[in-house]
Formats: sequence, structure tokens, C-alpha cells
Amino acid sequence: MGKTIVIYSTRTGQTKNIAELIAEGVRFSGTDAEVINITNIKKEENLKGYDAYVFGSATYHGEMMQGMKTMLFLAEKVDLEGKVGGAFGAYGWSGEAPGRIFDTMKNIFKMDLVSGPLNLKSSSLGGGIQMAQDYGREIGNKLKAL
Ligand SMILES: Cc1cc2nc3c(=O)[nH]c(=O)nc-3n(C[C@H](O)[C@H](O)[C@H](O)COP(=O)(O)O)c2cc1C
Repeated sequence: MGKTIVIYSTRTGQTKNIAELIAEGVRFSGTDAEVINITNIKKEENLKGYDAYVFGSATYHGEMMQGMKTMLFLAEKVDLEGKVGGAFGAYGWSGEAPGRIFDTMKNIFKMDLVSGPLNLKSSSLGGGIQMAQDYGREIGNKLKAL
């Protein structure tokens, strides 16, 4: 089966909306998904016991949010090598955060990532709902193929 955790870091809620849609997509594929606000990830144990990890942050001032940076240092201590993964986030114009998160998951954690990061201007505009659900489906399908 497999279980996915979708962790989001947001200021005004857009990245949370995307997180919920990604989780829906994961569930469409017939696997479990949990959505968690990054403020609830306080210790390594909070990150253990999942088969797939999807990390999301909005971009502010050209960067991921501070909570995501801190969480990635925590995640470094958990063995995520080979786990399925993906990264996402809401943005306004440059959207650096998802790419940076994705690169850390790939280069440092050595995870088994989906095709690329998901950057969305708004979860409800420009086919964003479908794109976020499809991203979740891609995670779920990768899990099922293991
Ligand atoms: C002060 C401020 C700085 C921002 N800086 C950036 C930026 O550097 N690049 C970008 O793509 N979007 C930037 N944005 C836009 C946010 O990423 C965008 O509003 C996003 O939807 C917020 O997501 P959230 O609701 O998950 O916090 C900025 C927004 C604010 C208010």
C-alpha cells in the first residue's frame, strides 16, 4: 500500500491548498496520504514511518520559508534514502522554493523523486487543481510500482 506525508509551509494558505490537492491525488491512486502543517513537525519521530514525502513551501524574498529550512535540517537526520519524494509551493513570480527543496531531497537525502518540482501560482487558477492532483497521483503511482 504505502503511506505519504505531505508537509506544507505557508503564510497565507495557498501552499496549504496545494498540499490538500496533492493528498487527494495520492488517494485517487489508492494509497494513503496525510497532510501536516510544518509547525507540527518538531522532532525526528514526526518524520518517521512514511513511504513517500512531499515537502512544500511558498517563496518569499526569493527563498523557501524559514520553517522549511529548519525542517530540512531535521529531515537530514532521518534516513530518507530511496524513499519516494516530491516538492511543491505557491509563488508569485520567481518561485525558487520548490526547486531548492527538490534539489536538497535529491542531492542530500538521495530520495527517489518524481519528475520535477511543482510550482503553482494559485491552486485555483490555470489548471492548478488538476496539476496538483496529478502530482499526487504521480507520487501514489510511484509508490504502487515499488
Ligand atoms: C513580501 C512578499 C515577498 C514575496 N516574494 C516572492 C518572491 O521572491 N518570489 C515569488 O515568486 N513570490 C513571492 N511572493 C509571492 C508569494 O509567493 C505568493 O503570494 C504565494 O501565493 C504565497 O503563498 P502562501 O499563501 O502559501 O504563503 C512574495 C509575497 C510577499 C507578500
